[in-house]
Amino acid sequence: MFFKALCRISKQTVAKSLAQSSRCLSLSATNNKKVAVLGASGGIGQPLSLLLKQNPGVTELALYDIMHTPGVAADLSHIDTPAKVTGHMGEDEIADCLKGADIVIMPAGVPRKPGMTRDDLFNTNASIVAGLSKACATHCPSAFLGIISNPVNSTVPIASEIYKKAGVYNPNRIFGITSLDIVRANAFIAEARGLNVSTINVPVIGGHAGITIIPVISRCSPKVSFEGDELKAMTERIQDAGTEVVKAKDGAGSATLSMAYAGARFANSLLDALAGKEGVVECAFVRSDVASVPYFSTQLLLGPEGVEKNLGLGELSDYEKQLVDNCIPELEKSIAKGEKFAASF
Ligand code: NAD
Ligand code: LMR
Repeated sequence: MFFKALCRISKQTVAKSLAQSSRCLSLSATNNKKVAVLGASGGIGQPLSLLLKQNPGVTELALYDIMHTPGVAADLSHIDTPAKVTGHMGEDEIADCLKGADIVIMPAGVPRKPGMTRDDLFNTNASIVAGLSKACATHCPSAFLGIISNPVNSTVPIASEIYKKAGVYNPNRIFGITSLDIVRANAFIAEARGLNVSTINVPVIGGHAGITIIPVISRCSPKVSFEGDELKAMTERIQDAGTEVVKAKDGAGSATLSMAYAGARFANSLLDALAGKEGVVECAFVRSDVASVPYFSTQLLLGPEGVEKNLGLGELSDYEKQLVDNCIPELEKSIAKGEKFAASF
């Protein structure tokens, strides 16, 4: 009797450990990924790295900054999740950070203070992004690159031109991260209509600055109705949400925690796409021919090679079509400014 019971227990134990080891095998086959964060010690970089450390599909998390990364890495490395965390500081250590990276997320650069536009950050951030992009093009040219550093409407063209110069450009692998606009649109619309925020999805297209941010409320899922002044007010709240945070922080920077959340959401979708998950759709600012400017944010179907299919502008209301027309001159200027800068870098 006792012997029979013992056999039953040991059979169950073997079956359980086999199941566990097959789960481990599939994890390592599909999700054994290295993610690098450039600007990892900053207001966005630290919470973003914390969120990425929680993804069991990340097995290496490499943190780069010009300051404090040994401390940030030591701190995160005590968390009991699989990712091995390494800290890299200063230009001499960037190669080790980037080698073998599957995904690079870049929140390096200065944030706005009240009264500034994102374009006012160009003079400082353009050279930071160009320098870091050059390092990525050298050390991990085929990694997915997600750029958070502002002004995104110019920094994505800068990175793209730097990759072109290095002869390694693949437009399907460079993304301007605009996910915070979608996260905000979801939060504001759910709040206004008393909806369950976890079920809502509002595409946001265009770019990532003021009038170039275009929430497509007509395609909100589930369907919502906003008309006239209420539609205009909701659109403007989403467009000005970054400024709302800059004003509230009163000189202490711009959105960091919500951006870390949005950046992690985007990085996790890239990891899912790399692992072969089907139907992964995110909006991002990419090289594109959907509008009369060479970069535009739209919904993208993501796959193991990056952008698998650009889902285009899709159906827009007359109001949204007008917003697209209105944003083109500003986008054109910001893109050209980035390209011109990169040409002389
Ligand atoms: P922050 O000043 O808190 O952090 C920036 C970090 O970048 C710092 O740790 C700094 O040391 C580092 N850094 C500076 N130069 C560097 C270099 N050459 N190499 C590596 N690291 C470098 O700023 P933050 O609040 O984290 O914002 C970072 C950027 O993200 C800003 O440009 C901000 O405008 C932008 N941002 C974008 C979005 C978006 O939706 N895309 C949202 C929020 C903020
Ligand atoms: C945001 O949208 O919060 C960021 O682009 C930061 C900023 O300067 O507004």
